[in-house]
Amino acid sequence: MSDPVAPSSPPSPTSPAQVAFTVDGRPVEVPDDGSSLLVALRDHLGVRSAKDGCSPQGQCGCCTVLVDGAPRVACVTPVRRIAGRVVTTVDGLGDDDRARWAGAFLATGASQCGFCTPGIVCRLEGLRSKGTAADDRAPVDRALAAHLCRCTGWQTIGEAWALATTGAAGTALALGADRDLEAAGRRATLEGGSPQHVGADVVLGRAGFADDTAPEGALVAVPDGDGGWAVGETLTEARAAAGKVQGRHGTVEPVPPLDLPEGEWALALRTSWVEPAYLETDASWCVPGGEPVSPLANGGAFGAKVGSLVVGAVRDLADRHGRPVRVLLSREDTVRLGPKRPPVAAGVRANGTGVLRAVRTAGLAEAVHAVAPGLVVEEVDLAGPPTSVAIRGAGWVEAAVLLAALEARSALDGAPGGSAAHVARVVSPAGGEAVAAVGLDGAIRVEVRCGPVLDPIVLRSYAIGAAHMALGWVTSEGLAVDADGTIGDLTVRSFGVLRAADMPLVEVTLHESDGEPVNGSDAVFAAVAAAVWSSQGWPTDWPTGQLLRPAGAVPQ
Ligand code: FES
Ligand code: FES
Repeated sequence: MSDPVAPSSPPSPTSPAQVAFTVDGRPVEVPDDGSSLLVALRDHLGVRSAKDGCSPQGQCGCCTVLVDGAPRVACVTPVRRIAGRVVTTVDGLGDDDRARWAGAFLATGASQCGFCTPGIVCRLEGLRSKGTAADDRAPVDRALAAHLCRCTGWQTIGEAWALATTGAAGTALALGADRDLEAAGRRATLEGGSPQHVGADVVLGRAGFADDTAPEGALVAVPDGDGGWAVGETLTEARAAAGKVQGRHGTVEPVPPLDLPEGEWALALRTSWVEPAYLETDASWCVPGGEPVSPLANGGAFGAKVGSLVVGAVRDLADRHGRPVRVLLSREDTVRLGPKRPPVAAGVRANGTGVLRAVRTAGLAEAVHAVAPGLVVEEVDLAGPPTSVAIRGAGWVEAAVLLAALEARSALDGAPGGSAAHVARVVSPAGGEAVAAVGLDGAIRVEVRCGPVLDPIVLRSYAIGAAHMALGWVTSEGLAVDADGTIGDLTVRSFGVLRAADMPLVEVTLHESDGEPVNGSDAVFAAVAAAVWSSQGWPTDWPTGQLLRPAGAVPQ
C-alpha cells in the first residue's frame, strides 16, 4: 500500500497563492494548487451539493454549477479560472427558485436517488433564466445532453421543467404537500433495491450520500491500482499518490463474449457485459472502531452496490490509521472493480425449454430457474470483471425476456399483416407483473401490477426509468472487454446509456392490487426489453445498435 500521509504543517513561504471568488453569496478563498472547481467546492469549502460522478472526465454533469449565471461543469474547470467570479450551486439559488425546482421534481418523480439532480437543476435554472419557453423541448433536450441520469429515464425531468417554467410551482408544491412521502419512500425503496427516501432534500442534493457526510479532516483513500489503497490528506493528494490517469474510451466494441449453445432454437440471444453505470460511485467513511457509513445512502444502484468493497476497506483503514478515513472510488475504479451484469448466450425452443449459458455468477442458476424451470443453465469461466446476480434481476430477467419474446412472437404470428403492437408480459419472482408494448408510433406503453401502489408518482417514475434502462440494454449498452479480461470502456459516456433525446414516449398505467407491495419496475425492465427486442425482429446479439423509432422514420 502506498501511504504518503505526513503530519499537516503550517503554511510556508512556498504554500500556493490563494484564489478568491464568491460562492452562494459568500466571498471565499482557496489555495491555487491546481485543483478543479469541484474539489475546491467539496473539499475546501464543504459545499457538497455539487456531486462527483466521474471527475475528471467531465461527462456526467453531476458537478454542474452556475458561474456568472451560466452552467459550468466544475470537475474540468480549474479553480484558478474562477478568480473574481460568482459561483452559484443549488444551495445558493433564491428561496423561490429552490422551492420551484424541488416542488416540480417532487411532483413529477423526476428525482429518484437524486445524485444527478442538483447539477440538472443548475443547468435548467440557467436555461430558465434566459427565458426559454416552457413548451420548447429542443433546448431542454440539448441541455440535458450534458448530463446523465441512470434512474429516471428523462421523461419526468422534462415534465419537471414544464411544471417549473409554467409558473405552476405552487401546484407542484401542493402536490408534494398532499402526499404521504413515507409511503413514497417505501415504494422507492422497493423499486430502487436500496433504502431511498423521497423529499425536497433529495432534489436539492441533501440525500445523505456517504461522501457528502464525511467529516472534515478525514483521511482520503483511493484504490492504488495494485489491490491496495493510496491514502492522502486530500482527494487530490490521494489520487496523485495512486497515479490516476483519466479514463478513456477504448477502441474495442462491446461484443457478446459467449458462443451460443448447440441446438435448433426458436429464439437465440447473446448479451454483452453490462456496466450498472450508477452515477454515485462507491463511497464510505468510518471512524476508528466504528461502523462504516453505507454506500447505499440513497442508492440508485438497483442492487449493484450491495456488496461494495468500500465497506470492509474503510473499516480496516480507519483502524490502521487511527483517524476517520473516507474511501471514494473514481469512475474508473468503479468500472474496473465493480460487478457487471453477466453476459449470457441462450437458446429456447418453442416449448420454452432450452439452454442458458452464462459467465459463472453465484446464484444465477437459481435466479433463472425461478422463472424458467425448463432452461438448463451452463456456467462458464471467462476472463473479465466480476459479475453479480444482485444487479437488477440478473439471470431471471434474461430468462423471462426469452420466454416473453417467444409469447410475443406467437401472438404476432396470429395477427393480420403484422399490424399488432409488440407486446410482452412478465411476472417477476417477487410477484410484480408488467405488460409492455412497443407501438408502431415508437412509443412504449407499460402496465404494472405490484400490490398497493403506495405512491403513483414514484412508481410511474421507476417504471419509466426501467423502460429507459431496458431500451438501452437491448439497443445501445455494453462494456467492451478484451479476450484477456481487460475493460476497454472507462468513461461514463462509453457504456451506451441513452440520452434524453433518444427516448421515446413512455406511457404508464398503474393497477392497484391486493397483498403486500412488491417491486414492479424489475418486471417492467424485463417486459420492455422483450417488447423492444420483438419490435426489432429478435436480432441475436445485444446491443442491437438500433434505436427505437416510429415505423418508417428515417434514422438520423
Ligand atoms: S463529475 Fe463533473 S461531469 Fe461528472
Ligand atoms: S436520479 Fe438521476 S441518477 Fe439517480
